[in-house]
Amino acid sequence: MAEKVTRIGVSLEPELLDAFDRQVDRVGYKSRSEAIRDLVRASLVSEKRASDEVVIGSLTVLYNHDEVHGAEDFVDIQHQAQHESDLDVTATLHIHVDHDHCLEVVILQGRAGAIEALADKLLALKGIKHGQLVLTAVPPA
Ligand code: NI
Repeated sequence: MAEKVTRIGVSLEPELLDAFDRQVDRVGYKSRSEAIRDLVRASLVSEKRASDEVVIGSLTVLYNHDEVHGAEDFVDIQHQAQHESDLDVTATLHIHVDHDHCLEVVILQGRAGAIEALADKLLALKGIKHGQLVLTAVPPA
């Protein structure tokens, strides 16, 4: 069954449309419509984040095994946040990258502000070499 859609008209300045079309080609979208749908979804997720609604976070961190495992703060902070903040630590994935380094992905569900606060605490730990939080949410369509 075909997905129900509503057509809308959008007016853009020629220069803006040219730049957008180049981006659509570069990224590999099949149509302007698909690119615009993604922009709208990203904007809706951004709004949820700004208004502290429930979102899903994936925090990726690369850390030095000895410094972070040794302190155990990385796990303790997650336990504490789950019990005291408005979020759940849904899953973690751990990979032993090499002799010294581990990669961990922590999936978090809850209020955007609580997830960002937890991510900030974890990323500030000694031994964290790099990390990034990505927030997403189920879009309306
Ligand atoms: Ni490890």
